[in-house]
Amino acid sequence: MALPSSLNRYLLLMAQEHLEFRLPEIKSLLSLFGGQFTSSQETYGKSPFWILSIPSEDIARNLMKRTVCAKSIFELWGHGKSPEELYSSLKNYPVEKMVPFLHSDSTYKIKIHTFNKTLTQEEKVKRIDALEFLPFEGKVNLKKPQHIFSVLEDYGLDPNHIPENPHNIYFGRWIADGQRDLIESYSVKKRHFIGNTSMDAGLSFIMANHGKVKENDIVFDPFVGTGGLLVASAHFGAYVYGTDIDYNTVHGLGKASRKNQKWRGPDENIRANLRQYGLEKYYLDVLVSDASKPSWRKGTFFDAIITDPPYGIRESTRRTGSQKEIPKGLEKCPESHVPVSLSYHLSDMFFDLLNFAAETLVLGGRLVYWLPVYTPEYTEEMVPWHPCLKLISNCEQKLSSHTSRHLITMEKVEEFENRDQYSHLLSDHFLPYQGHNSFREKYFSGVTKRIAKEEKSIQE
Ligand SMILES: C[S@@+](CC[C@H](N)C(=O)[O-])C[C@H]1O[C@@H](n2cnc3c(N)ncnc32)[C@H](O)[C@@H]1O
Repeated sequence: MALPSSLNRYLLLMAQEHLEFRLPEIKSLLSLFGGQFTSSQETYGKSPFWILSIPSEDIARNLMKRTVCAKSIFELWGHGKSPEELYSSLKNYPVEKMVPFLHSDSTYKIKIHTFNKTLTQEEKVKRIDALEFLPFEGKVNLKKPQHIFSVLEDYGLDPNHIPENPHNIYFGRWIADGQRDLIESYSVKKRHFIGNTSMDAGLSFIMANHGKVKENDIVFDPFVGTGGLLVASAHFGAYVYGTDIDYNTVHGLGKASRKNQKWRGPDENIRANLRQYGLEKYYLDVLVSDASKPSWRKGTFFDAIITDPPYGIRESTRRTGSQKEIPKGLEKCPESHVPVSLSYHLSDMFFDLLNFAAETLVLGGRLVYWLPVYTPEYTEEMVPWHPCLKLISNCEQKLSSHTSRHLITMEKVEEFENRDQYSHLLSDHFLPYQGHNSFREKYFSGVTKRIAKEEKSIQE
């Protein structure tokens, strides 16, 4: 695909983690900052090197202030499959675009970056010397250069077959690094208030990015737990709000999830988590509430709904219930045994979630959530849908040999008319995910373990 000539070419160096989540993250962020995703590559597959076109350096910088999937971005000056190809590509790069960064008053440094191979210092120096033909007029400054240039060599993805020569070589001017540091600084290991299902920091930021969360947005998590997803959204300047059916979680009471600690301490709650990161001003509130019975008046309140509903594995899927709703066969239970919460089928939960999102999101707002699936039975048609919501991306994260969860991102594209109008979507025909109501049973049945064992013995 030919690129429009008005666009500058950039090289993104991607992290080799959560591969499936990378493209939707970059696409979502570019659309947030007014840049369309244009690429010269048909598919980015697993490579850490992505060439793409962006209208301006400002947009490239904004992208890097948000991404946790990309490590760095470079303005691409040249690219080739051999050193000769790279040098001739560099000779074709317009000198007037180079000069502002190479003039005699400037300082610079050249770095060599290799993927899947380590070079000796001598080899690195050789590569730097070979670039002598570029019109560098400034002084080298290794400690604090004004401009950093990088040669990036790609030796493929297979550590068992490292080629003698790189598949691709790039040369570019470094512009900015991404936000990979957030994964460490927001790690749940160091977080004040955590639970068994607290969302990993890296994935929380990816979810907020898929959700196009931006400053002054209002973000809601209906299954808020310990608020891991609120923390990530607040970091990007959104006001956050959540609900959970569990009184103890919302109030930070009950048993602690940390080893060597029996009960939660006096200030272990979501507000304190936000305070820990200097984000308390973004805390709206958290309430005890059942997602199956939303207590909201009509209106579009949220810019994004970002959530991790329960799958029934480490926490139960529940909804509030009354005596009238007690399943047949249990009527004879003595009154003291009447359950105050009933099981909440996964398909009903996702139907409710999509309907709620369609009703309460602003137009263009996004719903981002995890859908657990039993992989042997999974087909794309199973992903719940709604006429007001468009599927933006569907990324798989494997949990075991036969189970995974999919990160689903949807965007509200139609105004919601009336709740009753969508009730037909509850029928089998419209709810193909229904078969997965037994996800929990399948997960615990031992079937997955047995199959994994069988597969292992076949491989041996
Ligand atoms: C997977 S956890 C969410 C974890 C959260 N993202 C975090 O970082 O801690 C799911 C949460 O949903 C809650 N939950 C279960 N059924 C619910 C319901 N019907 N309405 C609201 N919350 C519910 C559980 O109490 C649990 O805290």
